[in-house]
Amino acid sequence: MFSRQKVVVTGGAGFIGSHIVDRLVEANASVTVIDNFSTGRESFLNPAATLVRGDLLDQSLVDRAVEGATMVFHLAANADIKDGLKHPRRDVEQNVLATQNVLEAMRKAGVQRIAFSSTGSVYGEPSVFPTPEDAPFPVQTSLYATSKVAAEGLLTSYALGYGFQSWIFRFVSILGPRYTHGHVFDFWRKLRQDPTSLHILGDGRQLKSYCHVSDCVDGIFLAVAAGHDDSGIRIYNIGRDDMLEVNTSVSYICRELGVAPQLTYSGGARGWVGDSPKILLDAARLRRLGWSPKYSLEASVVDTLQYLVQHPEMAPE
Ligand SMILES: NC(=O)c1ccc[n+]([C@@H]2O[C@H](COP(=O)([O-])OP(=O)(O)OC[C@H]3O[C@@H](n4cnc5c(N)ncnc54)[C@H](O)[C@@H]3O)[C@@H](O)[C@H]2O)c1
Repeated sequence: MFSRQKVVVTGGAGFIGSHIVDRLVEANASVTVIDNFSTGRESFLNPAATLVRGDLLDQSLVDRAVEGATMVFHLAANADIKDGLKHPRRDVEQNVLATQNVLEAMRKAGVQRIAFSSTGSVYGEPSVFPTPEDAPFPVQTSLYATSKVAAEGLLTSYALGYGFQSWIFRFVSILGPRYTHGHVFDFWRKLRQDPTSLHILGDGRQLKSYCHVSDCVDGIFLAVAAGHDDSGIRIYNIGRDDMLEVNTSVSYICRELGVAPQLTYSGGARGWVGDSPKILLDAARLRRLGWSPKYSLEASVVDTLQYLVQHPEMAPE
């Protein structure tokens, strides 16, 4: 599908973006990565990719990088939800303005195909489970999700106004190799420092769906290969159809690390403002294309943890 085409991946040195780059390189694409290494790592970057080191807020840099491409995978973003309220401008800058810059660079260069990493967080605290793509989401519970809704809006406006083809993917939390943020990372880091106690944000009974990065990337490529209808807008949830209680995830992590910490809790049903106590997305739309995740929830947690144990440099002590 991408053989010998120039494809741009923003955030291609990050967790999910680097796996997308690997798949594109396997498909014989000529991949250009734009990354400012705010959270990305040199070691994640496929050596076959051309690196444009810089910030998406630099419009002329993005313009140059996108020139001659056939498609953009836009992964770069601030992906930290929890601390959003400490940096109230960050999500707007990194997730909305940066997306606008990518779209503008594409428009000027005549590049019209874009895949975008949105989030299941856009549904806030939904009333329908599993939550389908057309569920209403009138109230946003985090600045991160607010910014993703705005970015989705930009993509749909560019699709309708300029004939772009946009694939919008709303992920649950993704796990797997090169994972550098999220609950498995936080618990692993805390338990390395003190294996005798573990503090959990929330009551530990939050129920969340997860997905392994390999299954996530399979879904993205399947959906892109399936093409488009006339609207130019395709929206897909990506997530398994089961959930894991935080306490169960902790038990897998402790078992794998061979530790039995004293558990303490804070915050009630939600670990922080914006934490959703229950996340389960309806991925039937993607499943109809033949998508079927291969990693169970337990296998996803264990694989992530094994990666972290083998890569202690991910969180220097
Ligand atoms: N990881 C998840 O569970 C998850 C879930 C839902 C959605 N997403 C979305 O998927 C995408 C990738 O997430 P991730 O977990 O791989 O995050 P990540 O932090 O590992 O990757 C983001 C990458 O973008 C780069 N970057 C950030 N801001 C940039 C900027 N202004 N200019 C250039 N480069 C910039 C970072 O250096 C990093 O390499 C994000 O858009 C995120 O919101 C992730």
